[in-house]
Formats: sequence, C-alpha cells, structure tokens
Amino acid sequence: MAKSRVKKVLLSEARIKRRINEMAGEISKDYAGRDLMVVCVLKGSIIFLADLVRRLKVNFTLDFIAVSSYRDAGTTGSIKLVMDLRDDPAGKNILLVEDIVDSGYTLSYLLNNLKDRCPLSIRTCVLLDKYEARKTPVQADYTGFRIKNEFVVGYGLDHNEAYRGLPYIGILTAKK
Ligand code: IMP
Ligand code: MG
Repeated sequence: MAKSRVKKVLLSEARIKRRINEMAGEISKDYAGRDLMVVCVLKGSIIFLADLVRRLKVNFTLDFIAVSSYRDAGTTGSIKLVMDLRDDPAGKNILLVEDIVDSGYTLSYLLNNLKDRCPLSIRTCVLLDKYEARKTPVQADYTGFRIKNEFVVGYGLDHNEAYRGLPYIGILTAKK
C-alpha cells in the first residue's frame, strides 16, 4: 500500500454519517410518493451512494455513468462519456449523485447530457462542494459539505486511484 500522505482529517466518519442521514431525510421528504432513478457518477461516488440510498425512504432504481476529464492536459473543459447508463432516463425523476464539484465542468456536462434525454425531472446531490474553485456556474440541489479549495481523498475519493477506502475524508500533503 502507498505510504499515506493524508495530513489532516477534514471530515470524520461520524460527521459524514450524520450529514448523510440529514440529506437522505430531505431527499425522502422531497420525493415522497414518487419513484426515483438514482444515477451514480463512477467511481468516486460509490461509497457516498451506498450510504445515501440505504437511508432513502422512497422507491428507487440505480444506474451508473462514468466520464473522463482531461484536466492534466490543460484542456480543463473537455469531458467525455466513457460509460453510459443502461436504463433510459426518459420520463424518470433523476437524482444524479456525485462525490465532489470542483470546476463544475463534470456536473454541467452530465446535467446537459441527461436533460437532452427527456427525464421527467432532474436534481443533483453532491457530497462535497469546492465552491471557490468553480469555473462554470453550477450549483447542486443537495450538498453535503462546502469545503475549501484543497485536494481531498477518502470515502470514495482518490488520488491516482489510492485512498478510496478511507472511512473519513482527509487532506493530502504536497508531494515531497
Ligand atoms: P470538476 O469537473 O472540476 O467539477 O471535477 C469533478 C471531478 O474531479 C470529481 O468528480 C472528482 O472525480 C475530481 N476531483 C475534484 N476535486 C477532487 C479532490 O479534491 N479529490 C479527489 N477528486 C477530485
Ligand atoms: Mg468524480
């Protein structure tokens, strides 16, 4: 296993759990009597998704979507669909579940992509919002925590595929 470079716990396991309980309560209230199609953005959102949906009190189906972005190449706005949904979102109430909103390009891309496919409604649910990092205006309907512009890992979030299994969210140190 890679040597841990986590310098600080930003959000503890208990705090994340409490907040997800609140979010699930709010979503369940808002969608009472309606069915949901929950769409998970792979891979970072899976842990959040698993904890969130187990607390929902509405009927839901699950589907998955994956995108890639080319931020390292400097073309920050370039997002590509790498894995599509299996179910048709037309006529469904979509809840898009994402781990983190940073520049906003990913969430904007996915919202536009799904809106084009005629859902009955669409809302977004994100665990973390790096509100100071936005490069395109997009705001989630349900937000777990607003955080500073620092690179975070754990609870599904990775750095080069590492750290996803941490039960908390931590801040990475700069590389030595
Ligand atoms: P955006 O398109 O810039 O909003 O980036 C969103 C995506 O970048 C997220 O779905 C994450 O996969 C990744 N990302 C952004 N910030 C972080 C971070 O601090 N830790 C881990 N992944 C991040
Ligand atoms: Mg992601």
